[in-house]
Amino acid sequence: MDVKYLVSQMTLEEKASLLSGGDFWHTKAVQRLGIRPVMVSDGPHGLRKQRQEADHLGVNESIKAVCFPTACATAASFDPALTREMGEALGDACQHESVAVLLGPGVNIKRSPLCGRNFEYFSEDPFLAGEMAASLIEGVQSRGIGTSLKHYLANNQEHRRMSSSSDMDPRTLREIYMPAFEKAVKRGKPWTVMCSYNRVNGEYVNESRFLLTDVLRGEWGFDGYVMSDWGAVSDRVRGVHAGMDLEMPASGGVNDRRVVEAVRSGALDEREVDLAVERILTVNERYFQNAKPQTPWDMEKQHAQARRMAAECMVLLKNEDDALPLTPGASVAVIGAFAATPRFQGGGSSHINSFKVESLLDALQGVPNVTYAQGYTLEGDGHDEALLEEAVRAARAAQTAVIVAGLPDAYESEGYDRTHLRMPEGQNELIRRVSQANPNTVVVLYNGSPVEMPWLGGVKAVVEAYLGGQAVGGATRDILWGDVNPCGRLPETFPLRLEDTPCFLTYGGEGDHAPYSEGLFVGYRYYDKKRMEVLFPFGYGLSYTRFAYANLRLSAASIRDTDALEVSVEVTNTGNRKGKEVVQLYVADRESSALRPLRELKGMAKVELAPGETREVRFTLDHRAFAYWSEELGDWYVESGAFGIQIGRSSRDIALEAEVEVTGTKTLPAHFTMNSIFIDLMKNEKARMELKPLIDAVAQTLGGPREDGEAAQSAITNDMMQAMINYMPLRGLVNFGGGLSHEALEDILRRINDPDAPGACAR
Ligand code: BGC
Repeated sequence: MDVKYLVSQMTLEEKASLLSGGDFWHTKAVQRLGIRPVMVSDGPHGLRKQRQEADHLGVNESIKAVCFPTACATAASFDPALTREMGEALGDACQHESVAVLLGPGVNIKRSPLCGRNFEYFSEDPFLAGEMAASLIEGVQSRGIGTSLKHYLANNQEHRRMSSSSDMDPRTLREIYMPAFEKAVKRGKPWTVMCSYNRVNGEYVNESRFLLTDVLRGEWGFDGYVMSDWGAVSDRVRGVHAGMDLEMPASGGVNDRRVVEAVRSGALDEREVDLAVERILTVNERYFQNAKPQTPWDMEKQHAQARRMAAECMVLLKNEDDALPLTPGASVAVIGAFAATPRFQGGGSSHINSFKVESLLDALQGVPNVTYAQGYTLEGDGHDEALLEEAVRAARAAQTAVIVAGLPDAYESEGYDRTHLRMPEGQNELIRRVSQANPNTVVVLYNGSPVEMPWLGGVKAVVEAYLGGQAVGGATRDILWGDVNPCGRLPETFPLRLEDTPCFLTYGGEGDHAPYSEGLFVGYRYYDKKRMEVLFPFGYGLSYTRFAYANLRLSAASIRDTDALEVSVEVTNTGNRKGKEVVQLYVADRESSALRPLRELKGMAKVELAPGETREVRFTLDHRAFAYWSEELGDWYVESGAFGIQIGRSSRDIALEAEVEVTGTKTLPAHFTMNSIFIDLMKNEKARMELKPLIDAVAQTLGGPREDGEAAQSAITNDMMQAMINYMPLRGLVNFGGGLSHEALEDILRRINDPDAPGACAR
């Protein structure tokens, strides 16, 4: 199909009509030209295809499908191969059901554990989120189905989600909120991107030419089409100009007419309409070229995959006295309504109509010595004394009590935020009472985001299972009884209390403005810099075996920022069980003139090791691993200096460290004024050469022999003098520079700021 030719054959009305959905889930057709509609569907951890009575909030039923672990869980695998495999399975389902684009993955950063949609997002860390998303996209698209990377951009709260503005400085935008999208676009090459509901710095994303065209396409090379989140379009005409191609869902023709009028009145260039149509049709055509509706969709096979994946995502948070794994045949009291009716996904548009659900009890059928007590109800938050007493009796009678607890549906969902980090009071009370009755108490948590654990000290073991998809019960069994060795790591920090979280003071914002005043210091970047105590740090997770690290090697002791640095480290399984370790590489800028986190994740690798086995793990670090976003440069910038290369078990547990000296090859532009202070001027080579002799003269004047002939010594040391000069503005040379005229200083300033002026003039 020659898309450009087709577009040239269309009337303006036909073209405008293609810029919005035909209904809830389809693009439009132009029968006269043989243009067929395609279907899109949620996403992202299963296929939510609705046949009729469509809605975007998951209220009406969709077809039976397989619910895989949600993003909060898959991120904990720290294993992009896992999201890739999941993507392939999802792609097959879409092929079978003739769905052209799966609406996901979501890569928004978990700025606060309160965001109602955190279960649909990967991490507080952009590197991890980007890696997981890019692989999921690759997986789906390897099957000839498109994805929609969402929700672009800075959609980090549900509160006032359709009007709130995420207000932040450019560095925070570039270093925290953009990179996961950037990585997913550059590596995953999604067919489409979904723009978010919210505004960024006052401007709706669906109207932002800067975000949709300059950055997304211009800088990152995105070549698909942008669709709106459902109902996100504010000003459609501005949107077309910005690069927002497809409005979803249908707008009853209203916005199509506005587009036509805008072109007729000259307010919108028709070529921008043509471009949007071309982009949409190109992606649709890609689907038609690859459509294979005869693709089998083996749900039972996918269920087994979902079970394997869910186990790979579970994080062992505590395991005192090796309480886990459980001994086969030993008596176990399984307690908790979630053991019979698991919570395995979140509410809203991602809600999958699972063709079957496997609870822990289902998975334990036929296993001897297992009893069950409900423990709590899923209605209400309080405790039920009768259920509680029954649970305590069951716990007393067994060698181990396993409580399956977590957050009920209403506690976290699309559409609104959480207000606290507590589990229902009834569940906390149950855990307390059961752990008093049986010292061997194990807690398994089904929840989409961090919770407080006031009972932590009283229990032997805790497994964070997150929202693990429809096979979570089987996976829970596999972990508890040791068929799978836990290998998940926390993709987010679990704080001790809500008040400790980086954006506690500003989260949600005032009216429609949410100030991101914590800036770069999101998640572990904040807790680590403040050396705050946390419940569990980013990257943390235990195993039934142990791993040791040795021989951290760098390919060079010093590099230029244009070179790659090869890093290798040896990992050994020193325990007696096969297991997987997540090797985490952090980069720490030792000294910087810019504010920087203590360390940032720049590499990760998951390796499986037999007992006693050693493997070498390799990483390649490029320019970006050392760079920060320079507002002055409008680009990534590496400041010369030493960087720590740290291999960690979590952001708080660095096992090995080496240092590399990196020389930056870019120079920051000079924009000095008479008010620039010397500490800044001295960082610029040209300024240093021009001004050093003058400053020495000032030091002499201020600290040299006094008029009364006495040597000034005791009152002021050289260091003090230096500190005072550091903060003195350039204009101070007129006062203290021994008769230097203002005009002479202006000349010097011009030379320093002039990029074409020679390095220094001989004087
Ligand atoms: C959600 C999107 C979803 C869309 C379609 C919106 O409410 O924000 O994530 O893809 O609905 O269901």
